[in-house]
Amino acid sequence: MNLNEIKNQIFNCTKCELHKTRTNTVPGKGNYNAKVIVIGEAPGRFEDLQGEPFVGRGGNLLTKCLSEVGINREDVFITNIVKCRPPENRRPTKIESKACTPFLDMQIEAINPKVIVTLGAVSGEYISKKFNCTWTAMLKENGKPKKVNTLTNQLILLPILHPAAVLRDPNKKGIFISALKTLLTLIQSENIN
Ligand code: URA
Repeated sequence: MNLNEIKNQIFNCTKCELHKTRTNTVPGKGNYNAKVIVIGEAPGRFEDLQGEPFVGRGGNLLTKCLSEVGINREDVFITNIVKCRPPENRRPTKIESKACTPFLDMQIEAINPKVIVTLGAVSGEYISKKFNCTWTAMLKENGKPKKVNTLTNQLILLPILHPAAVLRDPNKKGIFISALKTLLTLIQSENIN
C-alpha cells in the first residue's frame, strides 16, 4: 500500500475510541522518499486542529533544533504512534496503540527508511520491540544508534528524547541537540546516501 492509500485508511478509521473526539486525523507529513522517519507519541491540540504532526510548542522546538543542526524537517517523514489526539493529551492506551500501530508499520514499509528516529519512550519502546532490540531507559538510550538487520535490509534506530521533555526541563536541550547531531552524522554517512 502506498502512503496516500494509508492516509485514506487513517482518515476513515474508527478502530478505537479516539475517532469520536478527534477534529482531524494526523497521518504524518514530509518527504515520501525520506531516508529518515521520525516517530512521536500522539497528536496534541494544535496537531488535531491542523491535521499535521509536531506543529505545537514541542513541534516548534523540534523544527528549530533540527534546523540548528542542519536538518530540514521537510526532508524527513514525521508521524506518531497514534494518529488521533488522546483527550487532554494523555498517553495513548494499550488498546489505542494496538489499534493504530498497524498504520505505522505500513508507513515504515512504504517508506523503507534507512534511519528510524523515535521521540520519547512510547515510540522508543514500540520500535525497539518491533525490531527485537533491547530498551533500557529513555535517558540512557538518547542519541545511541542501534543497527538492525531486517529480512531485506539494514537500518538504524536512533532513540531521542521527546521535545516536550526539553520544554519541561531546558537543561536537557544539550543532550537533545547532541542526539540530533548524531542523526546528521548518520544522514551524511555513506550508509545513508
Ligand atoms: N507530540 C507528539 O508526540 N506528536 C506530535 O505530533 C505532537 C506532539
